[in-house]
Amino acid sequence: MICARAKRTIFRQFEGVLRNGEMLLVLGRPGSGCSTLLKTISGNVHGLIVDPHSDLQYNGIDLNIMAKQFKGEIVYNQEVDRHFPHLTVGQTLEFASYVRTPRLRVKDISRKQNARYLTQVVMAIFGLSHTYNTKVGNDYVRGVSGGERKRVSIAEMTLAGSPLACWDNSTRGLDAATALEFVKALRMSADLLGPCHLVAIYQASQAIYDIFDRTVVLYDGREIYYGPAKSAKAYFEHMGWHCPPRQSTGDFLTGVTNNRERRARPGYSIGSLRLQTSLKATGNHLQSMPSSRKRSKTIKLLIPIVAVLLQNFGNYERTCNRNI
Ligand SMILES: Nc1ncnc2c1ncn2[C@@H]1O[C@H](COP(=O)(O)OP(=O)(O)O)[C@@H](O)[C@H]1O
Ligand SMILES: [Mg+2]
Repeated sequence: MICARAKRTIFRQFEGVLRNGEMLLVLGRPGSGCSTLLKTISGNVHGLIVDPHSDLQYNGIDLNIMAKQFKGEIVYNQEVDRHFPHLTVGQTLEFASYVRTPRLRVKDISRKQNARYLTQVVMAIFGLSHTYNTKVGNDYVRGVSGGERKRVSIAEMTLAGSPLACWDNSTRGLDAATALEFVKALRMSADLLGPCHLVAIYQASQAIYDIFDRTVVLYDGREIYYGPAKSAKAYFEHMGWHCPPRQSTGDFLTGVTNNRERRARPGYSIGSLRLQTSLKATGNHLQSMPSSRKRSKTIKLLIPIVAVLLQNFGNYERTCNRNI
């Protein structure tokens, strides 16, 4: 990705594949490019330039065709909720449901009825039924609370029922239990209906982490890990990073990209690991040498020198004693 005006490269060398019904957890510190990745995949590239050589395919369909002809099939939920503040929650969600009403419906059910029923079901799932007649609001217009507004956005995305959904920090403003419920709801929809969910979360608890199939770890616009969520911790530990006991895997993976947080395992040094991480980012693999091995080599070299010095010192002391 290249910024339009300053031509700043934000994101580079990304590779990955996601199959139907899989969930991808996007991890990285703020500023590492999580939003840019989700925006690019969902085709929301206003103000950004996608490298013409990059290859983005959706079941064989190119990004440009997807963005023009199947726009509703990829949805992106942005981090900051933006709604029409003067519309009520009921109106907002009914509209979202109405525009995605299928042509083939249950017999004798009109489009409006279908939209209304679905809205009521989704509102009940996300605990929004009591806000049906409340304004959505924003920073200036009084409306539902911040957490409820986030749930309105989630409900809106659910009503869209798209096969590919990108969620940018969607657990922001939710308490731990609701955040877990939200991710569980995504898992259920992925298992039952087969859509893919790409979710960027900054504070993923272990329970949330374990729900995901795949993880991508971003570091300064680079992909330092893409693969099964279960193998990510072992991959970084094998590389030499230390995961403190009881730290969640999500925090450990994000912590590896933070020089104030990361710790090397006993026998490894930060210097060699830092070099290794940056090399991994560009696709190279380098086995770092544990510092204890280096230390033992140095000690072996020093032993004869120290022995000679001690011998000389002994001779010198004996000479002094004799003179006295
Ligand atoms: N349109 C843009 N123009 C210039 N820089 C941008 C633009 N969008 C994002 N950036 C920069 O790219 C980096 C990654 O941004 P972003 O993807 O939003 O990170 P994250 O979501 O991980 O916090 C940041 O340093 C940000 O300032
Ligand atoms: Mg972001």
